[in-house]
Amino acid sequence: MAELNIKGRSFLTLRDFTPEEIEGLLDLAVKLKEKKKRGIFGTTLARKNIALIFEKSSTRTRCAFTVGARDEGGFPEYLGVNDIQLGSKESVEDTARVLGRMFDGIEFRGFKQSTVEALAKYSGVPVWNGLTDDFHPTQILADFMTMREHLGALKGKKFCFLGDGRNNMANSLMVGCGKMGIDLVIIAPRELWPEPALVEECRGYAAEAGSVILFSESTDAVSDADVIYTDVWASMGEEAKAAEREALLRPYQVNAELMKKTGKSSTIFMHCLPAIKGKEVTEEVFESAQSVVFDEAENRMHTIKAVMVATLGDYQPMPEEIVRGGFPDDFDPMGRPGCEGPECGSPEEKAPFITKPCAKGDGPVMELQ
Ligand code: CP
Ligand code: NVA
Repeated sequence: MAELNIKGRSFLTLRDFTPEEIEGLLDLAVKLKEKKKRGIFGTTLARKNIALIFEKSSTRTRCAFTVGARDEGGFPEYLGVNDIQLGSKESVEDTARVLGRMFDGIEFRGFKQSTVEALAKYSGVPVWNGLTDDFHPTQILADFMTMREHLGALKGKKFCFLGDGRNNMANSLMVGCGKMGIDLVIIAPRELWPEPALVEECRGYAAEAGSVILFSESTDAVSDADVIYTDVWASMGEEAKAAEREALLRPYQVNAELMKKTGKSSTIFMHCLPAIKGKEVTEEVFESAQSVVFDEAENRMHTIKAVMVATLGDYQPMPEEIVRGGFPDDFDPMGRPGCEGPECGSPEEKAPFITKPCAKGDGPVMELQ
């Protein structure tokens, strides 16, 4: 497991993290996933109050922060845009200073990247970017974790993003792929290519990591891709542009014909979700065996939990069996294989709360908080 020491830091974009730190977050997410699958709850976030500010709607991100915090003993509090004074009656700076006096960590999803940055600057506690118009960095961690699960090492893989090449996902993928040595091809009409300054910055990361960031208007560029990725054609806040985008992006739909153009049957299909089926992706591809979108969705939780634990959590040793990685594929967290005897109690007693290891020592342990 890569070394990770990022306690006290905010998570605003992947720009602020080294490839080793990103790898370390992914490794931690893998361990936390194993821990959860074994039914083990931790206490790394015990008594931590966590504010979840949402200016835009969310299913995955909101639930990932909520469940991830609770699994490790934290107390998440949802603050919807109409629940607090942020930015309307009270400035972002003042809101940040108030929340920083009460909460130990703050998640923000909304429009401006400058808002999440101001929250970090003025609150004095770790702030996590749950999506802005410009970046969606926690999504990239889930995407990379899912790639590792399905494709192995990240370095050298060919990753094709089709669609709005200048949205928060494309921007964040440029940073993330550049840092991790993944070859990224953004396939989009030229008017939807990203800001040149960001491209130049990300090409610098890629050069250091030994990969490339390329652009194409032709879907032929998907040849040999390991990953085909798409996102909605009009992001939250851009609803008025939906018709214009559809006209521009219709040729870039991910459909069976496009998947065939990769020339590989091992290519995986990814999407941050939510998806508008029939627009950026067909139902056929979305539901195909190549689609890993629900693994990605699940991994939002494990990776977001890793971000909270690494930046805010108090040290708690990972249980030895998780460190050793002895996690069999067919492990059933509630079945406690090898613990059939009376010393392990009745099935009702075994689940859902177990306060100490069973006599045979190889069952799940769930600590009561
Ligand atoms: N992928 C993602 O961020 O999903 P939500 O908008 O549901 O949070
Ligand atoms: N680009 C999309 C991502 C949603 C997770 C949006 O901002 O709406």
